[in-house]
Amino acid sequence: MSLSRTRLLQEMGIAPVWRLRDAPGGEADGPAGDEAAVPAPPDADRPPAAAGVVAAMDWPTLRQTIAECTACGLCRGRRQAVPGVGDENADWLFIGEGPGAEEDARGEPFVGQAGRLLDAMLAAIDLQRGDNVYIANAVKCRPPGNRTPEPEEMAACWPYLQRQIALLRPKLIVLLGRAAMQAVLNEARPLGASRGKLFEYRDGELVVPVIVTYHPAYLLRNLPDKAKAWEDLCFARRTMRQRQAAGTDLPRSGD
Ligand code: URA
Repeated sequence: MSLSRTRLLQEMGIAPVWRLRDAPGGEADGPAGDEAAVPAPPDADRPPAAAGVVAAMDWPTLRQTIAECTACGLCRGRRQAVPGVGDENADWLFIGEGPGAEEDARGEPFVGQAGRLLDAMLAAIDLQRGDNVYIANAVKCRPPGNRTPEPEEMAACWPYLQRQIALLRPKLIVLLGRAAMQAVLNEARPLGASRGKLFEYRDGELVVPVIVTYHPAYLLRNLPDKAKAWEDLCFARRTMRQRQAAGTDLPRSGD
């Protein structure tokens, strides 16, 4: 993406809602709709990736393993798996639900219409994809018809996301939508009831603060809730500043 942040927001026609006190911002509208995709069945009969093995993988091995994964039925409908994109030393980790048609075709998360809104949301808090930001999904393969991934599919994919978090050691995780909230926090309550709260993701010694907000595709269909998402992003930015001011060490349980 070579557009400047201001230009990006102007292109999206979103200046009023995403405007920062100290910087321009904006939001988008229109349906999420990206559809189609011709499934190419991968080689079958591979054993599912064992969580214990995944937990020891480095980035290249993890990416390769995800690309070849057949741990759940989603592999049968994918063109390619979509492991994630961005800075592998990022402070910020954004997690969505799963690839749609465009992501399945391009192999990168959030490149469709919802992705353009996500880019605008990032720009509004002075972030951009790939620069101190990593973007991943709860499932790495496209659910047919862009349906919500089933709990078993998210469970099968969980070791990969868990390993991504462990390798990244982000200072903050932002969960985009209910599926991501279920995958990471095992939290099934409606998203609206969890906004504005600071959760913790724990994995052994690793403790990472977590904030939830609406999925960009939802926001494209529910324009009034963009103001709430903006509040969530401001909350996330405040939380990140506190983490960065506190130093490089991640908080430990009991802090
Ligand atoms: N929606 C998601 O949750 N993830 C993507 O990568 C694209 C759309």
